[in-house]
Amino acid sequence: MKPARLIVLLMLLVAGFVVAFASPAGEEALGSRSYDDYETPNTCRPCHLDIFRQWEQSMMSQAYTHEWDEVEYFELAVEHAKKDADFKGVDDGCNGCHTPMAFLAGDVPPPRPGNSRADESVHCDICHTVTGFEGDTPFNFNWISEPGHAKQGPRTKDEAVASPHHEMVYSDFVKTPEFCGTCHNEMDPFGQWVKGTHLEWKEGPYSKEGVRCQDCHMTYAPGKSAIMGATHEDIAQHLFHGAHDPGKVRGVIELRIHPDLREAEPGETVKFTVALFNQKTGHKFPTGSVEDRIVWLEVRATDADGNTYSLPVDPKGFEGEETTIGSEVLAYQDMGLPLDKPDFEGVRRDGSVQVGDRIFRMAYLDPQGRVTIQQWNTKTFGPDYRIGPRETKLETFTYDLPFEVAPGELTVTATLYYSKLVSSVAELLGVPDEAEPYLVNEHSTTLTIFD
Ligand code: HEC
Ligand code: HEC
Ligand code: HEC
Ligand code: HEC
Ligand code: HEC
Repeated sequence: MKPARLIVLLMLLVAGFVVAFASPAGEEALGSRSYDDYETPNTCRPCHLDIFRQWEQSMMSQAYTHEWDEVEYFELAVEHAKKDADFKGVDDGCNGCHTPMAFLAGDVPPPRPGNSRADESVHCDICHTVTGFEGDTPFNFNWISEPGHAKQGPRTKDEAVASPHHEMVYSDFVKTPEFCGTCHNEMDPFGQWVKGTHLEWKEGPYSKEGVRCQDCHMTYAPGKSAIMGATHEDIAQHLFHGAHDPGKVRGVIELRIHPDLREAEPGETVKFTVALFNQKTGHKFPTGSVEDRIVWLEVRATDADGNTYSLPVDPKGFEGEETTIGSEVLAYQDMGLPLDKPDFEGVRRDGSVQVGDRIFRMAYLDPQGRVTIQQWNTKTFGPDYRIGPRETKLETFTYDLPFEVAPGELTVTATLYYSKLVSSVAELLGVPDEAEPYLVNEHSTTLTIFD
């Protein structure tokens, strides 16, 4: 053998060795570890009590046990994977983000929530033993997990007090949005970005200014992170507050409405303009589980006698706009297969949103072109009509005042609502609380009606 060939062969052998012994990431990591490799959150609790209590109230501590997650996983994803060979194994992937330890242990599907270590969901020892991610783009749980005595953290050794329980390894990675992106970006079997919070952040204004996920979801305050630890000016709060915190959602969009006339008579046409400014999110609103989320704008007028009128939004005429205006059409027929309802006609696409109201959403479409909440069954999308970070959208409402409108003051109110799950789907699947509407913002204007 020529020496050059021998060198190539040796290099290949070394490369093979490195690959074989490096920790696998993403789908490759299924079954590569055991539950015993990870410590329980209760082990961390006595020393890191505040952080534990914060995390315990966040959704990431319930990513596997929360009722809606349980329903979607067991009644839709697992059943769909069983009944359609094209989706075989798609349900395993859910665990890669929702209960990474069960995924790493190869315990898929895990036992129903109740009494197994899968319940620990996205916990301390998962995040604090991630050492990086594989590839260029963080997505589909492509983090690298190296469990053990060493915990990855944000401080150098001279900043922190030594821990009696573990070693501390300084990590730049935990401070980056890419760390979050490993689970907050998701590509489905059709190659579609069905979750793109990190990608949206990256293309938006905040990434350019260096404002990270952690700055808005793990805000910093003076204190101690461990009861026997050092005092720091900037302890990362493990709040992870998002769509499940009405306070986080309230005021996300600033809202103003104005008419083009100050006085009008019955029968006259008035145009109202609503300006919606996204002042708070670092990504689009809504983001994340966009297939479930719905944001809608109601404009209602009340005359001097207390009669109320609904004002329908003016269509803008873009392609696919019908998915962004409230209607009575049915959708979600693709749930018929997993739910064992072969003739399932679907339920209302927009739940309780009234006909004519503007909806800010991106509809997920199944291979037959029907709106779906099964993100793994998404082949294309409707138009992306969400509100981007620092974007302002204008909506107009051209209204012919009814002839019977009472003289005096007409008050016109614009109200923006947000719901985590379309109400019709929430009712069908027995999780009505998920559809609770949150008030995002509202504003009123007036118009004088004369005889
Ligand atoms: C016996 C007490 C004790 C236990 C149990 C404990 N820790 Fe710690 N930990 C500490 C102390 C003390 C510090 C240093 C805090 C400081 O001074 O900033 C620390 C710091 C950390 C840091 C920050 C490292 C850095 O770079 O700033 C991380 C991350 C961490 N612990 C994770 C864990 C996890 C995960 C567990 C449970 C698996 C755990 N700890 C259990 C005492 C403990
Ligand atoms: C190992 C995967 C994983 C990592 C890493 C991760 N997340 Fe999450 N995160 C999840 C899952 C899964 C949920 C959904 C929980 C549920 O089922 O409601 C979630 C939920 C959230 C929510 C709550 C959203 C809501 O609907 O209320 C916020 C906020 C959040 N994550 C922020 C972050 C930030 C910031 C980071 C990085 C510091 C991060 N996450 C890293 C998996 C992860
Ligand atoms: C979703 C991932 C995630 C989970 C779950 C998580 N952490 Fe963290 N933790 C982080 C990140 C990210 C930081 C660093 C943020 C920064 O400094 O920008 C951090 C920081 C810390 C620190 C150092 C705080 C400081 O500012 O000195 C400690 C200690 C810690 N975590 C302990 C825990 C414990 C204990 C739990 C479970 C109760 C836990 N973490 C759960 C992601 C996580
Ligand atoms: C400038 C502040 C800011 C930044 C930066 C930011 N977020 Fe958010 N995020 C918010 C606010 C405010 C909300 C609440 C409104 C909402 O639900 O979208 C939110 C909501 C969320 C939600 C719940 C969304 C939903 O509708 O279900 C998730 C998940 C989330 N953020 C993750 C992230 C991740 C991951 C990053 C980084 C890639 C990030 N955020 C960056 C402010 C921010
Ligand atoms: C790449 C990581 C990832 C994968 C894979 C994944 N999820 Fe999620 N999932 C998330 C994150 C992150 C959120 C939180 C987004 C948000 O709050 O808007 C989430 C949110 C959800 C929610 C909504 C939770 C709520 O409280 O509103 C459900 C239900 C859910 N996922 C089920 C599934 C199922 C079923 C699968 C498998 C078919 C799956 N997920 C696959 C990361 C993932």
